[in-house]
Formats: sequence, C-alpha cells, structure tokens
Amino acid sequence: MDVGGVSLLYGIGIGLHKSHLTLRAIEIINEADEVIVPGKMAYNIVADVRKPRIVEFPMGYGNKVAKKLGKELANRCVNEQIAFCCLGDPVFYSTFHHVVVETLKFNPEVEIEIIPGISSISASLAKAKIFVKDSMVLTAQNFVDSYPSLAVVLKAKNPEKVAKKLKKEGFKEFVLVENMYMDEERILKDMPEEASYFSVLIAKKL
Ligand SMILES: C[S@@+](CC[C@H](N)C(=O)[O-])C[C@H]1O[C@@H](n2cnc3c(N)ncnc32)[C@H](O)[C@@H]1O
Repeated sequence: MDVGGVSLLYGIGIGLHKSHLTLRAIEIINEADEVIVPGKMAYNIVADVRKPRIVEFPMGYGNKVAKKLGKELANRCVNEQIAFCCLGDPVFYSTFHHVVVETLKFNPEVEIEIIPGISSISASLAKAKIFVKDSMVLTAQNFVDSYPSLAVVLKAKNPEKVAKKLKKEGFKEFVLVENMYMDEERILKDMPEEASYFSVLIAKKL
C-alpha cells in the first residue's frame, strides 16, 4: 500500500457480523499491508474479504501480548499500513486501545485512524427494540464502584453552556465534533457559544 510517508495504524470496527462490514472497512482490509484480528470471531467476519493474521489476547496475558504487538507495530508502521480489526467498534472497550497505547510508547509518531463499526451497544438496543431518548449509562460490570468519566452529549447546539454545567459535575476536558463527514466538519477543544444541530459534545474527567 502506498503510504506516502505516513506511518499509519488503522483500528477497524467490523461490527458483530459479516453484514456489518462497512464499505470503508472492506476497502482498508483489502488494501492494508497486513490485517490482524484478535480472535476467531473477528477472523470469521473478515475472512471472506481477506484472510487475516490472528493475534490472540488470552485472559491474564493480554498486556504482555499488547506490549509485544505494540513493539512490532511501532517498527512496522513506519513504512507499512497495518489494520487491526475489532469486534463492534474500536472505541468501546477494545483490545485496540491497549495496542495503541503500547505502540505509541515505542513510537509516538505512528498515526492512528479509527474506522467506526456497529457496536454491541447499537446492535443490542436494535435487537431489543429500545430507543435512547434521554441519558444513558454505558459501563462495564464494575459500575457499582465507578462514576462516569466520560459524557457524550448529542444535539449540543449550545456547547459553552453545556460545558459549564458539566464542569460543575467534575468534567474538565471537552471536544466538540460538529458536522462530521460534511464540508464544514470541525473538531474543537474550546467550546463555542453556538454550534450546528449536527454536533456532539464529548466531555472527559481527567
Ligand atoms: C471487549 S467488549 C468489546 C465491545 C465492542 N468493541 C463493541 O463495540 O461492541 C466485549 C463485550 O461486547 C459485548 N458483545 C460483543 N459481541 C457481542 C455479541 N455478539 N452479542 C452480545 N454482546 C456482545 C459483550 O458485552 C462483550 O462482553
């Protein structure tokens, strides 16, 4: 793949089933220098497009594997483009996160690109025919002793006002993602007074 001097590691969301693969995911799976999957389930989703390499992350050894793979990718992503495929979407509780952290420790120059996929969150709500119309808690099962460290606010037309409210709840870092995939796409860290209806505000506790 012609990398044009760019070091690139893709995290590709492959959804939970072959039918969830997006056009962009298929394109990158076809073109990358190597495709890696973290197990048999992901292998089965991707294999019709291209046979990937399996790197397993066994319970208790995940960190060790992530470190080893991170070292490899830090060296290879200098002149290769590697695609790491995740079940669902890479931003939710994925092995890819650990791989990215380890890769960047070895080589902070590696550029990361994430291709979203259909997550188990969307898919399970769709199966259950449940609509989200207000706030929602998203957590792993240790939620009893943890507080939300991330808030995602849709319809964020008044980002400054919303951020002010969230600051009172302990949120400290804000990102506004406006008009995604449109000509006017903007990703802002300083909250403007007003934004378009197609805006998502993401707030983090540090
Ligand atoms: C390590 S997390 C990965 C989540 C994934 N990145 C996503 O976006 O859905 C694994 C969890 O996702 C959920 N999950 C993944 N595949 C699923 C499936 N086919 N059916 C039900 N839940 C699933 C389960 O809660 C599982 O414990």
